[in-house]
Amino acid sequence: MAEFSLPRNSVVKKGKVHAPDTGGRLKSFKIYRYDPDSGANPRYDSYTIDLDKCGPMVLDALIKIKNEQDSTLTFRRSCREGICGSCSMNIAGRNGLACTTAIEEMKSEVRITPLPAMDVVKDLVTDFTHFYAQYASIQPWLKTATPPPSGKERLQNPEDRTKLDGLYECILCACCSTACPSYWWNSDRFLGPAILLQAYRWLADSRDEMTGERLDQLEDPFRLYRCHTIMNCANVCPKGLNPAKAIAETKKLIVERAA
Ligand code: SF4
Ligand code: SF4
Ligand code: FES
Repeated sequence: MAEFSLPRNSVVKKGKVHAPDTGGRLKSFKIYRYDPDSGANPRYDSYTIDLDKCGPMVLDALIKIKNEQDSTLTFRRSCREGICGSCSMNIAGRNGLACTTAIEEMKSEVRITPLPAMDVVKDLVTDFTHFYAQYASIQPWLKTATPPPSGKERLQNPEDRTKLDGLYECILCACCSTACPSYWWNSDRFLGPAILLQAYRWLADSRDEMTGERLDQLEDPFRLYRCHTIMNCANVCPKGLNPAKAIAETKKLIVERAA
């Protein structure tokens, strides 16, 4: 299991201990709190809940805490089905989705922090502005040079369609990119595993006609080649995807066109 602990987390001071829930199956959560508007330093607040009165997932615990103990606790969530990617955070040292991470899997007190190496907006909410700008930079849409067959869609045979499996499922949660040491240190110029997997999704699409231009844009010492195949990305992806493989396939395409 890949675990990540950044300096940001290790210097955070202990904060409030909230009045514990009562019951038979108590579980404690230590949650990163930060409100830039308050001017105060980040801290960890502690909460205890009864698992018999809570749903099974970490997101259920966060919602219970917010509803019953501390309405100021801030986090993102939407689908609670592992589809929207909103609830990505670091749970017990591992990036993941709160809505698909079972509380039972956690041994003792559960420490929850924002995704590593991203600016924190408030508590567990990180700033995705740069990540989305990087996503936009790869032009994530079908690009063509020839006109579409008149009155028809651009068709794809089943064999070509399967080449998108393992790519189209990405929900842009950023768990992989924020687990990647190369991305921690070079996120200003390295696109990171999530965006590179998305870039390969269009390279692998038989209907896209801009492969050369896309590869030109990626062939750069930083944008693509800062990946050193450390594999943290594949280890943490909550959708079971393998960005490192997509990166390797992209490098292969660049080598093949030069041959
Ligand atoms: S394989 Fe590449 S992209 Fe994935 S974590 Fe390692 S360095 Fe980052
Ligand atoms: S590849 Fe996986 S971890 Fe990375 S953004 Fe997509 S779904 Fe999230
Ligand atoms: S709430 Fe949508 S992925 Fe967790």
